[in-house]
Amino acid sequence: MDFSIKFTATLARVEAGIEALLPPAGARPARLHTAMRYSLQAGGKRLRPVLVLAAAELFPGAADPLPAAVAVECLHTYSLIHDDLPCMDNDDLRRGRPTAHKAFDEATALLAGDALLTHAFALLATGYPGEPAIAQRLVRELAAAAGSRRLIGGQMEDLLAEKQANATADELEFIHLHKTAAMIEVSLVLGGLAGGAGPTEVETLRRAGRHLGLAFQIIDDLLDATADTATLGKTAGKDAKADKTTAVKLHGLEDSRRMAEAHSTQAVAALRALPGDTAFLIALAERMLTRDR
Ligand code: IPE
Ligand code: IPE
Ligand code: MG
Ligand code: MG
Ligand code: MG
Repeated sequence: MDFSIKFTATLARVEAGIEALLPPAGARPARLHTAMRYSLQAGGKRLRPVLVLAAAELFPGAADPLPAAVAVECLHTYSLIHDDLPCMDNDDLRRGRPTAHKAFDEATALLAGDALLTHAFALLATGYPGEPAIAQRLVRELAAAAGSRRLIGGQMEDLLAEKQANATADELEFIHLHKTAAMIEVSLVLGGLAGGAGPTEVETLRRAGRHLGLAFQIIDDLLDATADTATLGKTAGKDAKADKTTAVKLHGLEDSRRMAEAHSTQAVAALRALPGDTAFLIALAERMLTRDR
């Protein structure tokens, strides 16, 4: 397997899916639909939808994973638009472009996020007309991952932990597990469900996603402290400025990197336990550890 060829082909499926499954930019109100596409089609890494498609490929194929892949990216992009708002992380740059509220205005950014969140569930509800049991399961899984006990809960604790002098490693792990790992877990799980994975395989996918997600957020914290804004496509050094509770603040650069490596190793071990050809997913997990953006 040539990783780059496979990644490029999978990415092309994701981009085509986004183009086809999002309302056209000109749909009324055009300002809203333009803003949705502005943030979504700005060239993120597409890790989550690629995970959906790659996980589905391990299994015989019960349903088309593409609507689920696009749904996950819509939901993720909404979380970024809201994460960047002045009332949250107050960021000016995202995916190499001005953030949605800078390019449009705060109200439009808020509404574009709302609409992307809603659209994610519309895609799951309408994308599986022949497989109602799969659709129901996909909705349930995504709602749990994106809800108040996971993604939103993680975002809440992330904000509560700002400027905390005595945050603990457990609190940091809660933040990472919820604000980030939940969506990476569910990406693998939705792919598996679309592919026809059984209960044991779904739990293995979830475990792989949990470790991959923890490694991913530790690296995000490391990159914020060590990379440059041009490479990242978002403002570097923001975490220290806002005095966020991050892996770097609690554990330092070296221990953080070691922790990310340990989680990545555990993610790969879980992926190895899955059926089918796991080489692409394993290579993807390994590359996420050495990414520069
Ligand atoms: C950013 O996610 C938010 C985190 C959970 C760290 P990504 O680093 O995947 O952002 P994009 O999708 O590539 O822009
Ligand atoms: C964001 O974490 C996670 C979500 C958007 C849910 P960060 O605040 O660290 O993400 P970046 O660094 O702005 O991408
Ligand atoms: Mg944040
Ligand atoms: Mg942020
Ligand atoms: Mg960050």
